[in-house]
Formats: sequence, C-alpha cells, structure tokens
Amino acid sequence: MPSPSPTHAVRTHALAKSFGAVAAVDGLHLAVPAGSVFGFLGPNGAGKTTTIRLLLGLVRPDDGRIELAGHDLHRERAQALSGVGAIVEAPALYPNLTGRENLRVGTHLLQRPAAVVDELLALVALRDAADRPVRGYSLGMRQRLALARALVGQPRLLILDEPTNGLDPAGITQMRALIRELPARFGTTVLLSSHLLSEIEQTADHCALVDAGRLVYQGPLDRLLQRATPRIRVETDDPGTTLAWFRERGFEAVADGDSVHALADLDAGERAALTAALVHARVGVSGLSVDRPGLEALFLQMTRASEVPA
Ligand SMILES: Nc1ncnc2c1ncn2[C@@H]1O[C@H](COP(=O)(O)OP(=O)(O)O)[C@@H](O)[C@H]1O
Ligand SMILES: [Mg+2]
Repeated sequence: MPSPSPTHAVRTHALAKSFGAVAAVDGLHLAVPAGSVFGFLGPNGAGKTTTIRLLLGLVRPDDGRIELAGHDLHRERAQALSGVGAIVEAPALYPNLTGRENLRVGTHLLQRPAAVVDELLALVALRDAADRPVRGYSLGMRQRLALARALVGQPRLLILDEPTNGLDPAGITQMRALIRELPARFGTTVLLSSHLLSEIEQTADHCALVDAGRLVYQGPLDRLLQRATPRIRVETDDPGTTLAWFRERGFEAVADGDSVHALADLDAGERAALTAALVHARVGVSGLSVDRPGLEALFLQMTRASEVPA
C-alpha cells in the first residue's frame, strides 16, 4: 500500500475531552500544514496541553478523531506516532549524565550515527558544556538539550508545549531562532503552544487561536494579525484637534488628558499625513506610538466580531 503523502502533519476532527464538568477540548478541528511552524495560541486553561496530550496518545479523547501524517491515531497508532518528537512539561533528561551522554543514549536507542551528537550539540550551542553533567545546566541549557534530544530521531513532527516558559530573555531568543530553522533544516513540522501572542508572532507562520477548548481562529498568522486593529496613542497639547482628525476619518478615538487613543490601522504614509496635518494646524505632538493588541484584546475583538452578523 502506498504510504500517504499528506499535506497536513496534524488533523483533528471534532476532538473533545472533558474533565468532569470542564470541557477542556470542545469539538476541535485542527489542521496543521506540513512544513509549517504552527503556533497553538490561547490563554492559560484554554486546553492547549490537553490537546497536545491527546495528539501524543497520552490521553484518550471522549470524541473525535486524530490523524498524524495521514495515519489515524486510534487505528494506526504506531505509524501515526512514528517520527513524532515532543517536549511536554519537564523534559526527560538524565541529570547525572553529561549533555553528550544524554544524546548518545538517544542515538543508541534510535540507531542513529554517533556523528549526529556533535551536529546537534553545535545546533543548540551546547558544545562547550557538552561534557558537564546536566544537573549543573541552567533551565535554558536543559531546554536546548531537550530539543536536541527530540531531534535525534529527525522527527517529521515536533510538538513543543510552551517551549520558552521560564527561560531568560537570551534563552528565549535562542530557542525561537532554533525553532524557526527546523522546517528548512530537517523537514520538520513544528507545533508549539504559547499563551503569548508575541511569542507566536516571532516564530510561527500558521496558527490556531483557542479559547475554552474551542477554535477562535485558524490559518496564516499574517491574516490573524491583520484582524488585530492597532491602537495609536498621540501625546499632544491639543487633544480636541487630534481627536477630530481621527473621528473625521471614521476611526474610534478617545482623549485621556494629553493623550488621544485611537483604534486605527494607519500605514506609514497615513501616519506621516497625520503628523503633517497636526503640525500644519500648529498642534504640538510630543509622542506617537502604535501598540498591537495583546492576546486578550485580540480575543475580545474576535469574539465581538463573531457576534456581529455578517
Ligand atoms: N488532569 C486534569 N484533571 C482535571 N482537569 C484538568 C486536567 N487537565 C486539564 N484540566 C483542565 O482542563 C482545562 C484545560 O487545561 P490545559 O489543557 O492544561 O490548558 P492550557 O494548557 O491551555 O493552559 C483547564 O480548565 C484545566 O484545569
Ligand atoms: Mg498548558
């Protein structure tokens, strides 16, 4: 039988899992394109970890189906899970072994060439620390080693649950850079969860937004970001004139002391026109900033949008 060459690394159909009265995952249709870095985004308690545990076959769904690389997880479990790597919760590393030894365990188990160990140590920037016991590693070093360990088997799908949680800023930057490289370098599809929009924004090309176990959005990340109307804040000595500029153009705007806040998606040219108009009207402007809404504001915007009939 020819093996399927699926366009999706993960598909779920009406996936559901409850804990008592809590519907942790509630009719989820996920579609993760092969070769993508897929951000699985949602606030704490949205059902991300439960979904990931379902995808890895660690928990049984109450309802629905899961396909990994075209294989049904229930009927073809071994094929579905072969080539799937994951880091969920605390990474499983041997603290008394060195970084290098931890990876050697992996290459032995998976019958991969020993040379892979050095390549992976270089990839995750742990060559210098390779011969020290892991118990002395920082959290960031452990996370990078866990990533290297998960890559030993050259997974076609790598699932990472909140991979930058608890890392310091340098660790976060390194982890993001590594994740972004994986599809091109190893042909790996990456599914990573996060409760931070900024996190997903900097790593993913596709995403799903979940809230209370339900899908709020799924698709290309840039399309999601387009829906997030930015907030513009103008610091001015003439809030009235500034407010009028926005309102005349149909934008929602409010004044708060010397600041005017507007919900407006202005491009660079329009921002220049705004400043020019205010300068022309002799309005003093001491600051102009654009804030993209965070995840919470985006949820509000999107839930509100879904309540308005088309
Ligand atoms: N083993 C469990 N027993 C009871 N409730 C659980 C269990 N796992 C998760 N939940 C509940 O399911 C919901 C989703 O949790 P979780 O999947 O961990 O969300 P996330 O990873 O997005 O923060 C939460 O309300 C959580 O309290
Ligand atoms: Mg979680």
